[in-house]
Amino acid sequence: MSEGMGAATGANISAATSAITDAKGNASSSVAMTATPILHLADAHKAFGENEVLKGISFDVHKGEIVCVIGASGGGKSTLLRCLTLLDHFDRGELEYDGILVTKKKAVRRQVRDKVGLVFQDFNLFPHFSVLRNITDAPLKVQKRDKAEVMARAEQLLDQMGLSDKAKAVPCELSGGQQQRVSIARALALDPEIIFFDEPTSALDPELTADVLKIMRDLADEHMTMVVVTHEIKFAAEVADRVIFIDKGLIAEQGGPQIIAHPQSARLQTFLRKLEV
Ligand SMILES: Nc1ncnc2c1ncn2[C@@H]1O[C@H](COP(=O)(O)OP(=O)(O)OP(=O)(O)O)[C@@H](O)[C@H]1O
Ligand SMILES: [Mg+2]
Repeated sequence: MSEGMGAATGANISAATSAITDAKGNASSSVAMTATPILHLADAHKAFGENEVLKGISFDVHKGEIVCVIGASGGGKSTLLRCLTLLDHFDRGELEYDGILVTKKKAVRRQVRDKVGLVFQDFNLFPHFSVLRNITDAPLKVQKRDKAEVMARAEQLLDQMGLSDKAKAVPCELSGGQQQRVSIARALALDPEIIFFDEPTSALDPELTADVLKIMRDLADEHMTMVVVTHEIKFAAEVADRVIFIDKGLIAEQGGPQIIAHPQSARLQTFLRKLEV
């Protein structure tokens, strides 16, 4: 089925709550979830010409869950995030947010876009805008929210990111880690239901990486729903509720964070061994 060709489910399944169980079968009280996942992806495919990048990816993300996606370079992780955040589209498969089927209709895409935030590897800030304007521009211009409310939220986010003294600076006056924290604040300012990170620390040196990971750990503690593509395996093992390993366009293994210490498949074992070298 093409993306957008299916019947809109629209209806919210009953909001009965359940709890995630970890690998040992223990209920995790930290991640309560409703029956309708925030994100539902089924059999997603994407090719660039002859290059079949995604060959049938399916997974759900529930409210408050932290899902880390790992896999070799060129394996399609960024492509997956770009399609999930509607910067691109799947060739086929079904994508739903909160039970709403994503179609090619502009109104639907606009509605869904408000639910998702994306933090890129290379920050993608507007270079000529101040930090404050980078954070407030989209909530004001795109979401057309109340100015006082947007400004108050931006101030709170700057404080949370340790950047209160940088509101008037432009991105080139900031370190990479500071720029990435602005980029996280910008994504959060849109008040998304789910936030996607595409290797948020891979352009940073170890010290700045630690700052950004600390912010992400704090978000995890607040139960922000997150999908994080990362090479930071230690971070994934520590923070993720679930780890998804993508290999050759498919999910080759997924499970609780313990799969990093105890991978079951030969492919994940090989991938992790290479990272240790
Ligand atoms: N816009 C595009 N046009 C053509 N091919 C593309 C495009 N974007 C990605 N690709 C190809 O799709 C494949 C997957 O790329 P992608 O960037 O998704 O991998 P990745 O897993 O994010 O890799 P990395 O870990 O290096 O960031 C690669 O072969 C890449 O060349
Ligand atoms: Mg990538």
